[in-house]
Amino acid sequence: MNSAKNAPNPAKLTPNMGLKHRNTFGLDAVAELAYEITSAEQLPDLLKGLADQNQAWRPLGGGSNVILPNQLPGATLLINIPGQEIAQSDEQNTWVSVGAGVNWHEFVAWTLEQNLPGLENLALIPGTVGAAPIQNIGAYGVEIGQYIDHIEAFDAVSHDFVTLSQAACQFAYRDSYFKRHPKRYIVTKVVFKIPKPWKPRLQYADLANQFNDPDQPPSAKDIFTAVCQIRSQKLPDPKVIGNAGSFFQNPIVSNEQYETLFKQFPRLVSYPDAPGMRKLAAGWLIDQCGFKGQRMGSVGVYEKQALVLVNHGGANSEDILNLAKIIQEKVQKNFQVQLDIEPNIF
Ligand code: EPU
Repeated sequence: MNSAKNAPNPAKLTPNMGLKHRNTFGLDAVAELAYEITSAEQLPDLLKGLADQNQAWRPLGGGSNVILPNQLPGATLLINIPGQEIAQSDEQNTWVSVGAGVNWHEFVAWTLEQNLPGLENLALIPGTVGAAPIQNIGAYGVEIGQYIDHIEAFDAVSHDFVTLSQAACQFAYRDSYFKRHPKRYIVTKVVFKIPKPWKPRLQYADLANQFNDPDQPPSAKDIFTAVCQIRSQKLPDPKVIGNAGSFFQNPIVSNEQYETLFKQFPRLVSYPDAPGMRKLAAGWLIDQCGFKGQRMGSVGVYEKQALVLVNHGGANSEDILNLAKIIQEKVQKNFQVQLDIEPNIF
């Protein structure tokens, strides 16, 4: 804990910091007070000061799943906590401890260099390790929650550090306890538990098509490379065109509603979900409404993936949310399905 003996350097403060390069939508947001957090030990004093002054605050990771307003009042905590190490290993598992500020994709690449396969299906997802559990990032049949042993965080309610087990994180599809309680925890470290027995996960059609020879199963590195290729083809590179990946969650409906829709739209794309439920491909629904490649001023729907909204340059959060509303209304009208926005609206 934070004792005078080993007091950390205080977090670096930059007033009125432009965050255009700290959010993948490329929105021109300005943080009134931007604090760079490079060590968990900086948090207790800082959060106490903010609470005493009744200042608003929010943590920001890589900014790859957020919609920022033009002005962020109060404190924005840029979580840049570094470090990654193999913490423990036994015959069955390897535990890897990673600072919340580490870049997610670089971490996945590092696990493969360390001969720790398991996370390769999650390659090239933008953002940081600390943000990954918030929305329980997932792709190509894998969700990160499955691999998390526990999380270290600062609890803004008890003003102390806490350890949250995988169960306490309440992971679900694009959801977690953290996402539902955004003002409570600041994730400082994630400890992954990677099982040693490994087998490729190829159930997702795009991967199954590439590796269809049962006599030549792919290595984890082959899958990593394939996932990078698939993502680069389908999803826009935020360095080139601003976006936050999938803008809506794939909606989950009852089997009953699914059957009704399927009778009307036999090409409807869907996946099995929890018993009695079905997950629909939101990208397909939006595409069918004719939005793909459409533009509305500075914002638009990506031409290769209707689930991705893009900033063509100069957009603000209002422009994005206006387009989102138009899409939600049309999908509701045509399919009677509600689309929920996936990124966090600050
Ligand atoms: N589709 C269309 N038109 C489109 C887009 C999609 O018809 O414009 C159809 C596709 O043909 C496919 C289905 O919809 O049959 C699903 O599309 P895709 O395989 O591209 O996946 P997704 O459901 O759109 C989800 C995740 C992605 C993740 C991929 C791969 C969500 C909200 N999105 O997308 O995650 O990479 O599966 O697992 O669950 C993200 O969260 O930011 C993200 C990119």
